[in-house]
Amino acid sequence: METSSLLFWWPRVRDVAVPKPKTVAVWAGWHTLAGLLDGKPLPEEVRVLVEAAAAHLGYPLFLRTDLASCKHEWSRTCYVQSPENLWRNLYRVVDGNGVYDLACEAIVLRQYIPLQHAFHAFWGMPVARERRYFVRDGEVVCHHPYWPEESIRFFRIEEPPEWRDALRALNEEPPDEVELLSGYARELARVLPGAWSLDFALGEDGRWYFIDAAEASRSWHPPCPACARLTAESSRATS
Ligand SMILES: Nc1ncnc2c1ncn2[C@@H]1O[C@H](COP(=O)(O)OP(=O)(O)O)[C@@H](O)[C@H]1O
Ligand SMILES: [Mg+2]
Repeated sequence: METSSLLFWWPRVRDVAVPKPKTVAVWAGWHTLAGLLDGKPLPEEVRVLVEAAAAHLGYPLFLRTDLASCKHEWSRTCYVQSPENLWRNLYRVVDGNGVYDLACEAIVLRQYIPLQHAFHAFWGMPVARERRYFVRDGEVVCHHPYWPEESIRFFRIEEPPEWRDALRALNEEPPDEVELLSGYARELARVLPGAWSLDFALGEDGRWYFIDAAEASRSWHPPCPACARLTAESSRATS
C-alpha cells in the first residue's frame, strides 16, 4: 500500500493522544471509484457506509480520499455543506485525484473543524494558521508555515485588501506553539518510523489538530537545508 495513504497512517496514529478530527474511511478500491467517473454508480454497500458515516459526523463535513482532498476548489470538493452536496462533491474529489494520477482507494469523511483563518483564497478556501512539521526517526527536523505567500491564488473571488499582512501574522510561529507542536510531532513520530511530514491546523476552539501525514520525500517543503538532508536520507530509508 502507498504509505502516504491515510489508510496506512491513520490506523497507526488514531490512538495517539493528539487532537484530530473524527475520521471514517470507507474502502471502495480504485476501479470502483474510477467507475464513478464513467457514470457507474457506487455499489450499494459503499453508499450505505458513506451515508452512515456522514450522518454520524453531521454537516458540514470534510471529504477527501485516502490520498487528497482537492482543497483549492473547496465548496465544490472537500467542504460539504449539506447532504445535497455529498455525492456531487465526491465525484469532483475523485475526478481531481485522477487528474493528478492518484489512484485513491477510499472515501474519507471527517469531522469539520472550523479553523482560525484570516481570509479566503482559491475558490473560497479559508486560509488558516497551519504548520508542517518534518520528523525523522522520532525527532523533529524542521517546521514551516503551511501557506507561504507564493502559494496563495485567488480564483473567482475578490483578492482581499492587505491579505499579505494578514498572512504574515498567521505565519508567525511563537515559541509556545513550537514547543506544543514539537511535542505532538514527536508523539506521532513514535508510531510512524522513517521520515514524514505532519500537518497541524489551529481550530477556532484554540486547539491544534493533527490533519495530515505523508512521506517526507513526497511532501512539499520550502527551501531549507534541513529538509534537503531529510529528503535525501528518507528516500534511502523508505526505498
Ligand atoms: N477536518 C477538517 N476540518 C476543517 N478543515 C480541514 C479539515 N481537514 C483538512 N482541512 C483543511 O483542508 C486542507 C487540506 O486537507 P488535507 O486533508 O491535508 O488534504 P490534502 O492532502 O489534499 O492537502 C487542510 O490544509 C486544511 O486547511
Ligand atoms: Mg495535506
